[in-house]
Amino acid sequence: MEEKKEIHVLVFGGGGAVGALYSYLLSISPLAKVHTTIVCRSNYPTVSTAGFTLRSALWGNHTFQPTKVYSSLDEIEDTSIYDYILDTTKSHPDAFVGGKPPLARLSPFLPETTPIIVIQNGAGIEEPYHLAFPKNPIASGVLYITISQPAPGEILQEGKVNHLRIGPDHPLPEKEQEKIQFFGDVLGASCKVTVHKDIRCERWRKVAWNGSWNTICAVTGLDTQSFIKSSPEAKELVINLLREIVITAEALGVKMDPIDSLIKDHVGWTIKAPPIVPSMLQDARKGAQMETEVLCGNIWRAAEKVGVETPNIKYAQAYPSEVTRRPY
Ligand SMILES: *[C@@H]1O[C@H](CO)[C@@H](O)[C@H](O)[C@H]1NC(C)=O
Ligand SMILES: *[C@@H]1O[C@H](CO)[C@@H](O)[C@H](O)[C@H]1NC(C)=O
Repeated sequence: MEEKKEIHVLVFGGGGAVGALYSYLLSISPLAKVHTTIVCRSNYPTVSTAGFTLRSALWGNHTFQPTKVYSSLDEIEDTSIYDYILDTTKSHPDAFVGGKPPLARLSPFLPETTPIIVIQNGAGIEEPYHLAFPKNPIASGVLYITISQPAPGEILQEGKVNHLRIGPDHPLPEKEQEKIQFFGDVLGASCKVTVHKDIRCERWRKVAWNGSWNTICAVTGLDTQSFIKSSPEAKELVINLLREIVITAEALGVKMDPIDSLIKDHVGWTIKAPPIVPSMLQDARKGAQMETEVLCGNIWRAAEKVGVETPNIKYAQAYPSEVTRRPY
């Protein structure tokens, strides 16, 4: 029998639910023997001793012990053993205004052929990684799943939604695209993964929903249903934000679905669905850092570069921090 290929994956952001779940799913892949090294933060004491507990509607209940657990990137001695870096940290706001993503601490040590796969929300999230790792193949992931960490090391996956789409935002040479494809195949043997040659269309499709509804809900402090019922003009405002996002994406050369079908999908569907508290509103209510840079800031900054006006998005970004972060 042929030996299974062994691969080493460094998961940065293993402190979060996404990094933990995908580490587990990699480790059970029948296509390769995957060793996962996880860098945790606040859940380090639990995970380093007891591993993760997973309670999942789709994959059942398990405990999972990563091959290695570190509390900081600085503890990693040899980065050359890793075949892939998976970064599942939340986008870092400083990264978009001239700063660097936290993973950049690895850049002086990481071989420039190691692919980096970043699972993050929002527009333009790849740019800081291209700046920090100019030679490495970079792919990003657009994720649809319902997952949380109710207690340190305890991962809860709910419902049936399960789809990770990964791919580069600039075309990669064939050899590098093959490496991304292989990662997708290994992971895709235990969950739903689609590998794209250009992820931008998928990214902006999700941004179209998240950039409009998240923003509006965070600014107003209302869930989707409460907002839509708040005034006769409410629907028009969501559509205006959506339109700004779509026009921006198209001006950047991203092929979007026709605006009418996006309005039907993103606005029509949401109006009929039960109330949703989007993640930015959840963060606002907790007083936590919101993803405003990637869901608003990067959209209007990209729009300005290509000469598109996005007044609603631009001025909405000024709001959440001031208005919705007041204590509830
Ligand atoms: C997983 O655990 C939860 C509660 O801890 C339980 O309700 C559920 O039935 C379990 N699922 C499986 C597949 O055992
Ligand atoms: C993005 O949109 C989905 C619905 O498509 C929603 O469930 C999720 O909370 C949003 N995520 C973020 C980060 O805004």
